[in-house]
Amino acid sequence: MDLLDAVRGCTFDDFLLAPQLGVLPSRDPDTVDLSARFSEHLTLERPIVSANMDTVTRAATAIVLAEEGGIGVIDRGFRAGDIGPQIAEVAAVKRRQHGVIGDPHAIAPERSVADALRVMAETGVGTLAVVDGTRRLAGLLTERDVRFVRPDATVAERMTPRSSLVVHTGAIGLADAERLMIERKVKKLPLLNPDGTLIGLVTARDLIKQKQLPFATRDAHGRLRVGAAIGATGDYLERAADVLRAGADVLVVDIAHGHSDVMERALREIRRRFPDAELVAGNVATAEGTTFLVDRGVNAVKVGIGPGGGCSTRLTTSFGVPQVEALVRCRLAAGERVPLIADGGIKRDGSIAEALVFGGDTVMLGSAFAGTDEAPGDIVMKSVLDSESQKIVKVPFKVFRGMASIGAVRDRLDLEEAAPGELEAIGAEGIEFSVPARGSARAVIHDMLKHLCSAISYGGARSLQELRRQFWANPERYLVKLTAASRTESFQR
Ligand code: XMP
Repeated sequence: MDLLDAVRGCTFDDFLLAPQLGVLPSRDPDTVDLSARFSEHLTLERPIVSANMDTVTRAATAIVLAEEGGIGVIDRGFRAGDIGPQIAEVAAVKRRQHGVIGDPHAIAPERSVADALRVMAETGVGTLAVVDGTRRLAGLLTERDVRFVRPDATVAERMTPRSSLVVHTGAIGLADAERLMIERKVKKLPLLNPDGTLIGLVTARDLIKQKQLPFATRDAHGRLRVGAAIGATGDYLERAADVLRAGADVLVVDIAHGHSDVMERALREIRRRFPDAELVAGNVATAEGTTFLVDRGVNAVKVGIGPGGGCSTRLTTSFGVPQVEALVRCRLAAGERVPLIADGGIKRDGSIAEALVFGGDTVMLGSAFAGTDEAPGDIVMKSVLDSESQKIVKVPFKVFRGMASIGAVRDRLDLEEAAPGELEAIGAEGIEFSVPARGSARAVIHDMLKHLCSAISYGGARSLQELRRQFWANPERYLVKLTAASRTESFQR
């Protein structure tokens, strides 16, 4: 069977997959290998990615995604030249969890308790390292040390001094740190250079967190991983430098038409300045587009022209490729050289399994996470007719919008600076609508993973990788092309 011929003009709802002999002992996501390559040097335990959209991924969403084994990409939907807000989001993810805190918040011993309280409130951190002018550790100060204390008392008067602390000289692995902390019955372990200067801090709270979230996506220091979108024009190089400095693990050059001269120039400059940065680029939907990006040194390709829930590109331009065909085309071109991110068009959990067998190593979702607690944006109450009671009820909603929608573009433009007529000249390729508010993204992810495990079981595989391998070895065994009637039977409820 020629797979590409079989999927021409098709997307997720054009197919079902035929059930195979089930061999998976348990569908519990804790026991099934769902690991997937996000990019060449970054593997996730869960193949789920949240889209870089300003109504989807800021720190709160990215934290949940990474804690649950996926990754979030912080959007660049901040005004051009205004890089600070995106940096703050990246930094908030990186500070959320630690193995070893490399740069603990610190205060000088001669400062006042009032100052310490202010630093604690500003940073949200309950323990400050007390260091002198040469960063030598003088003690530790916790919230408990400063509660109900004269605000003009000094930090030195209230801290636990260095002589009463258990410290470790040099670097230490997390397992050894844990052993030492249990043995010495301490909740904090400062790490020092031989000269007494502070190099890090391990806390029991962080160690416990690491164990509670066994699938979390973490860097070498135990911090959650996060991606950052940078664009391909304007401030993109400065933005790239700043987000990398803030700890972003991967740069995402995301433009509507990734197979373009603009992209070529951007990739050349980015690779010249940041040769080692993990780099994802897109979007493309053809073999030529994929090869174009791979040949220019990207570490993963984002696939999807027009399938997105907030997208109107196909309506306004008639360009695009149905997402299943796009994934097959791009997979055939990429081979195993770089991973593909299947971006957009997921409206039901079943499509995730399809995106992952047809070519995606991971799947990127926007609208699926819209309306969750973690998605940016305020809740608005809307009056809705309840069909059962025929009464008007107030229901909480959140706004979801395409990044090329007029609202999103307007917010990115500095209106003071924008030339008159600039707004009118924008051809919007995105739409805006409200979606019902619906609880935490964590629950959404858990459901997706359960359904993916069930799909693996129906597919006669023991892991996600095995399902994909088996599908590509013999697609005919799996592919069920739907008619209009069988589509209605399958998806209309
Ligand atoms: P879903 O279907 O998960 O798709 O909401 C998310 C993806 O949609 C893309 N996106 C857009 N595409 N105009 C477009 O043509 C837009 O305004 C727009 N905004 C987002 C993007 O690839 C995202 O990851």
